[in-house]
Amino acid sequence: MSKIKATIRGVQGALPDYVLTNKELETMVETNDEWITSRTGIKERRILKGEGKAASDLAAEAVEKLLVKTNTSKDDIEMVIVATVTGDHTFPDTANITCDKVGLKNAFGFDLMAACSGFLFGLTTGAQYIESGRLKKVIVVGVDIMSSIIDYTDRATCIIFGDGCGAVLLEPNEEYGIVDSVLKGDGSGRQFLQRKAGGSFMPFSQKVIDDGSHYVYQEGRTVFKHAVKGMTQAVQELMERNNLEADDIAWVVPHQANIRIIQSVASQLDFPMERVMLNIEKYGNTTSGTLPLCLWDYEKQLKKGDKIILTAFGGGFTWGATLIEWGYDS
Ligand code: UT7
Repeated sequence: MSKIKATIRGVQGALPDYVLTNKELETMVETNDEWITSRTGIKERRILKGEGKAASDLAAEAVEKLLVKTNTSKDDIEMVIVATVTGDHTFPDTANITCDKVGLKNAFGFDLMAACSGFLFGLTTGAQYIESGRLKKVIVVGVDIMSSIIDYTDRATCIIFGDGCGAVLLEPNEEYGIVDSVLKGDGSGRQFLQRKAGGSFMPFSQKVIDDGSHYVYQEGRTVFKHAVKGMTQAVQELMERNNLEADDIAWVVPHQANIRIIQSVASQLDFPMERVMLNIEKYGNTTSGTLPLCLWDYEKQLKKGDKIILTAFGGGFTWGATLIEWGYDS
């Protein structure tokens, strides 16, 4: 009997309408379009606006459209994993709220926090439930509303991040699916990229608000170096373990944090940029959202059996790479 694989049956994105351009950022902080474009590759990002709007609203939109697109009944979904660092609340979890908003009555779920590697870790986790034969329909969402934790007077962070969401449906398949993952963590990197306040370490207080510890802090150059090294090594380890050469890989899907990080990783892997998925120009860094949003944007170009490597790096540090064989022709 052949091994059950977890295949991606469909992918769907959800984005807020509001477009925050580099030009508008020029009116908010001391920066300019030329600097942002040349140093990061970002032209614009989406921002979720509206009282009471939260991560679960984008997640619910993506899940609902995904179900329609894949002709899947709400009652058949058994599990929803939501990768996020900006869930609606500390608790309850955003997966739970998403299931309620969509009307998924037979699903359990949970949130998974691994910063920008969240979707990768979630995909690998969801796949285990399918591969073990325990579940048949699992949804993995990557969503972040980074605008809710960004200081729009800090030019080191506000130019990079945006809001966005992507979701995939996993199902059993004997032919194509998620093949292998290299996942890594090193918590000693936490001081370089974090949101210090809001958890048990530093609960919210007036002092927190006054000193801005509720916003994202990033030491950009240090994170940049670790990101290039981490993603390159994870992809190399994955390719060696699966006896793959660059020519065997149809696409590399890198976390969209900075075009220069992506170019450095591709160059060290000797992988042509024409086969590297890019959408950073339109959305910036949406943290857990970048990888599924890339798959969504490039879906029409993907063919059944394509070998695709996803790779990410984020706060923690967390990082890794996942090899998938694409399950369908669009
Ligand atoms: O997704 C999670 C992982 N995160 C990442 O992978 C992000 C990694 N880091 C980065 O992408 C980059 O480090 C940044 C985009 C955050 C910053 O780019 P950089 O090339 O590392 O810039 P820098 O911090 O070294 O600053 C270079 C110069 C400085 O001026 P001086 O000291 O050389 O005069 C900064 O003050 O650029 C200045 N600068 C800016 N100028 C205009 C920094 N930010 C800006 C800005 N606009 N927004």
